[in-house]
Amino acid sequence: MTNHKIVIAIDGHSSCGKSTIAKALATRFGYVFIDSGAMYRAVTLFVLRHNLMVDGEVNREELLHSLPEIKIEFRYNPERQSSDTYLNGENVEDEIRQLHVSQNVSPVAAIPEVRESMVRLQKEMGKNKGIVMDGRDIGTVVFPDAELKFFVTASAEIRARRRFDEQTAKGEMVSLAEILENVLERDHIDSTREASPLRKAGDALVLDNSNMTREEQLEWVIKKVKETLGNPE
Ligand code: CDP
Repeated sequence: MTNHKIVIAIDGHSSCGKSTIAKALATRFGYVFIDSGAMYRAVTLFVLRHNLMVDGEVNREELLHSLPEIKIEFRYNPERQSSDTYLNGENVEDEIRQLHVSQNVSPVAAIPEVRESMVRLQKEMGKNKGIVMDGRDIGTVVFPDAELKFFVTASAEIRARRRFDEQTAKGEMVSLAEILENVLERDHIDSTREASPLRKAGDALVLDNSNMTREEQLEWVIKKVKETLGNPE
């Protein structure tokens, strides 16, 4: 049985390489890859552009009023061989990755109505299976029946260093200290919020990749997918 498709849920802490693993798995098995964090980042960009965030506090009433106007889509970009995130028809893929968005996303993602709206879209995207989705609540809330769940983590210092290298390679002027602070702050908000907090699903496999190379991680997750598909070779 190798041609049946499954749902693969990948959750974990900030900047631990979930998207990299998810993208590689999707390519390897011909699955759709969805970065659910990009959706919360796009909503956050909308909030920032419409001045709906003051001193770290979201103007909830205004945001909820605007929520039906926020249209988020993914469109395949053949140049990057990956999907770009669009907010109301505009490609915002680069901007949503910047630190000012990372610094404001967790309070926005903690709003239950925002989550309900994103989770509805995410469930719809996974209804035909053959999907790898990464985020914070994928194995617990979005796809609790996913056939395979991973929970990825690494030490905060290592995660911050990886994100710092990624951002500076893109030419963004950031310091390692502010990235580490952001990683820790998001971990805290994401894990302690009331609505769908970040936690490991009971049936998720833990991957601590602090001391693993990309290749080692990939080899491990591919093996787990093959086992789940009933094809361990
Ligand atoms: O790439 P990184 O791990 O730094 O973050 P991300 O996956 O892009 O997610 C950005 C933020 O969105 C997280 O810190 C969470 O606050 C929120 N998020 C969430 O609440 N639920 C998800 N399923 C995905 C992201």
